[in-house]
Amino acid sequence: MAAERVTAFAPGRVNLIGEHTDYNEGLALPFAIDAGVTVRATATNDRRIEALAFDLGERDGFLLGEEVPSPGGWRTFVRGVTAEMAAADLPVVGSVLEIQGTIPRGAGLSSSAALEVALCLALLALADVTPPPALALARLCSRVEHDWVGAQTGLLDQLASLCGRADKALRIDFRTSAIEPVALELGEWRLVTLDSGEHHRHAVSGYNDRRRECAEACEALEITSLRDLDPAMLARLPAPLDARARHVFEENERVDAAVSALASHDIVELGRLLNASHASLRDLYAVSTPAVEATVERLRAAGAAGARMIGGGFGGHVLGLLPPGAIPPPGAYDVRPGQGARVLDPSD
Ligand code: GLA
Repeated sequence: MAAERVTAFAPGRVNLIGEHTDYNEGLALPFAIDAGVTVRATATNDRRIEALAFDLGERDGFLLGEEVPSPGGWRTFVRGVTAEMAAADLPVVGSVLEIQGTIPRGAGLSSSAALEVALCLALLALADVTPPPALALARLCSRVEHDWVGAQTGLLDQLASLCGRADKALRIDFRTSAIEPVALELGEWRLVTLDSGEHHRHAVSGYNDRRRECAEACEALEITSLRDLDPAMLARLPAPLDARARHVFEENERVDAAVSALASHDIVELGRLLNASHASLRDLYAVSTPAVEATVERLRAAGAAGARMIGGGFGGHVLGLLPPGAIPPPGAYDVRPGQGARVLDPSD
């Protein structure tokens, strides 16, 4: 029998390394964080969705089957999720959806994916249906991003939110979809994030341009994805496609170098890799901004052995790796790998 009320939680994520690689069939090393989005769903006996975004003091209402993209913002995600679930033959029951979040929006910590995933899990639990496998659910959420929101994002955020594990980062291979937990043991070192204060929407941020440039590079080289790139091919690409492709190739290598550094507890080397990733995102991929650079500098001034922008760029949070004893700059907060998305017990 379907439940009358359920609560689902989906976390945001931090990507340790491996940026702008997911839609290039590359590698990334994200982890789910404690902050996220909670959706409490209460069944009604009709075909209507009433959604309430507590943090914003806003509401939305629509009939199932009659979703149309709203003027943007959080409402588009709710409408997109219910419509895409129905299109995938998943049951959606009329309900009141109470949404509450603890992740800053548009700040590189994956607030959108957390909202999509929490909505899916809550609606599936309300209908008493076992969720599809993580990859299928991540793809459903990514159709919301592509077709409703207009951001041509990859699967990094949704997979990290769905598959997160306490104390583990996830090495994701976006070509094979293999996900391997990697122990994130930093001893007395800390990972913190610091907001650049500049927020973004990937539908308009320049993110889609980068994705198009990668597709153009593949077309010019007659390869199916940049995972097939051999560095000798770079000379055949015009600027700036050569720089974009080089970032993706080297970033994939840095992900496996980071996995090795973690395995050998070489945290200084991990910091070096984070810095190299940031420099590449700034100089080759051109997704940094003055506010992000100033935030990186604040973390380095506090003693960070590594600091890099996280997420799609054009603003958002910066990750810093601080050695034992270093004092984080004001406003920074600690992040560590937490559990992935789940339906909460009524007693939670
Ligand atoms: C955003 C997107 C992800 C990924 C990152 C960059 O977070 O949603 O799919 O492309 O940017 O690594």
